[in-house]
Amino acid sequence: MCGIFGYIGKKNHAAEIVLDGLKKLEYRGYDSWGIAVKKGTTIKRERHVGKIGAAKTKLPVSNLGLGHTRWATHGGVTIGNAHPHVDCANTLCLVHNGIVENFRPLKEKLVKKHKFLSETDTEVALHLIESKAQKQPVARALRVAFNQVTGMNAFIVLNAKKDELLAVKNGSPLVIGVGKGENFIASDLWALLDHTNRVIFLEDGQLAQISAGQVKLFDAASGKALKPQVKRLDWQAQQSRLGRFHHFMEKEIYDQPKILDDLSRLSPGTIASVTRLIKKADKTFLLGCGTASYAALFGEYLLNFSGYDAQAIVGSEFQKFARLLTPKQAFLMLSQSGETIDVVDAVNLAKKKKMRVVGITNVLGSTLYRKSDLKILLGAGQEVAVASTKAFTAKLAILTQLAYQLNGNLDEAKKLIAQAARATQGLLSGKVRADIKKLATKIKDEDDIFAVGRLTSFPIALETALKIKEVSYAHAEGYAGGELKHGPIALIDQGTPCIVIAPKDQSLTDSLSAAHELKARGGLIIGISPQNDPVFDVHFKVPDLKEASAIPAAVIAQLLAYDIAVARGLNPDKPRNLAKSVTVR
Ligand code: AGP
Repeated sequence: MCGIFGYIGKKNHAAEIVLDGLKKLEYRGYDSWGIAVKKGTTIKRERHVGKIGAAKTKLPVSNLGLGHTRWATHGGVTIGNAHPHVDCANTLCLVHNGIVENFRPLKEKLVKKHKFLSETDTEVALHLIESKAQKQPVARALRVAFNQVTGMNAFIVLNAKKDELLAVKNGSPLVIGVGKGENFIASDLWALLDHTNRVIFLEDGQLAQISAGQVKLFDAASGKALKPQVKRLDWQAQQSRLGRFHHFMEKEIYDQPKILDDLSRLSPGTIASVTRLIKKADKTFLLGCGTASYAALFGEYLLNFSGYDAQAIVGSEFQKFARLLTPKQAFLMLSQSGETIDVVDAVNLAKKKKMRVVGITNVLGSTLYRKSDLKILLGAGQEVAVASTKAFTAKLAILTQLAYQLNGNLDEAKKLIAQAARATQGLLSGKVRADIKKLATKIKDEDDIFAVGRLTSFPIALETALKIKEVSYAHAEGYAGGELKHGPIALIDQGTPCIVIAPKDQSLTDSLSAAHELKARGGLIIGISPQNDPVFDVHFKVPDLKEASAIPAAVIAQLLAYDIAVARGLNPDKPRNLAKSVTVR
């Protein structure tokens, strides 16, 4: 969601440093942006609606600056609602990620003495801080105000009177980058990597007071000083570059063979520690949101097939299980970013229930990573495109290994994943690639597209539909093949594209029957299957890789979604209304 970047230090081009930081956060999704710098003891700022693009800043030289990319929640997408917001005296400015849930009663009190210039909940928090700062230092005022607001929030204040940045958070991620004679703060680790590899992850309920030469940390509830834990990142986390590709989504689809090949060599020890936990547990829950929830569903099927009681949960619905959770159950949390609020909420609840949590995430140091008892990194490299691709297949590869290891067959799973890597490579060039593009051009103007699959192909059908709708805005639905007759088949008309995922498993005959039923109603049948069948109007051949057949099938779906978006003249990297990381409820 919103991106935050702040700088304080020896350099006097803070505005440019902040603008550069915001550009690195663009991938998170936003609709407006702004930067503020300290000038004397006051604030100068600029705010804009739309994308940063090639924007340059005209703000004055300064050694202290703060910026924000906004994804609107409270108040429309306007310059007036864009952050940073300034207080009445123009000496404090605030950027914010989250939602101040009690903004209404707070505003009713503040409105008598403060001038409100926007419709945002952020400005309410700012004037609250301002009012508290009349009788005490701003750091303490922020602490008192923070304890008064409800909701999950990250606040960063620029105090022009004292040359300091102040940050406090509850829920939304914030990382401080520690430099020499300069410090940084960002909502996202990736944005800091060009500047420093020494970081402090701000934990919930901590407040940081950041000057050019020092970071002081406090407990936000009590005000007690805490010792900052500076972590040196010893890993090569490179900011992703587009290279020869047109879009990050395309690049990330093409990254997959290498990632899958690497995952086929994932340490057996890592897999074994998680399977030991699953074996001991009465039941295993798998949880994720969006694409990750479909990976969780895939995991549910695989674990059940291996003889273990497993259940997938959509992150935003996890509360319905709250009373059923016990320390004897295991929790596998799947999240590319490791910051999705519903996942973080679920981890917190699971920890309260004394459950052991396994975090399967792509981001080292993310909230999920830090809070999990056992961790598996996807190792997919930075995923920039809003639509998740490589993180999805990486999760499938890991879940396949976990399921096979439960029955002592890890070596077979590793072979299958290595074969899936090669099969994926084969899809990315030559005839198959050309055929997918041709199909995309043919169906690009269709309003409705359907994807069906049974058993482990059902989550792939759901993901196929999600990918198509996210980036092309075509209406797409995924169904379990057996459900068609119970309603959805009424939607099939002459030429309606129907993607049928039909691996060579126990569901093959039924999947082909579903294809026939769709065809009989006029559907254009696009088969993804190891063998061709007369029912298919278009056939994409994938090898028979048992459960790992899901991987090349998912890659074909990703390519098709990408090609439809491009054929429709859309930018698949930045779909409308979507953010990369959903950090508010
Ligand atoms: C994927 O294409 C989506 N943009 C979205 O569904 C995403 O998978 C979801 O928000 C979960 O994100 P996470 O994996 O970072 O937790």
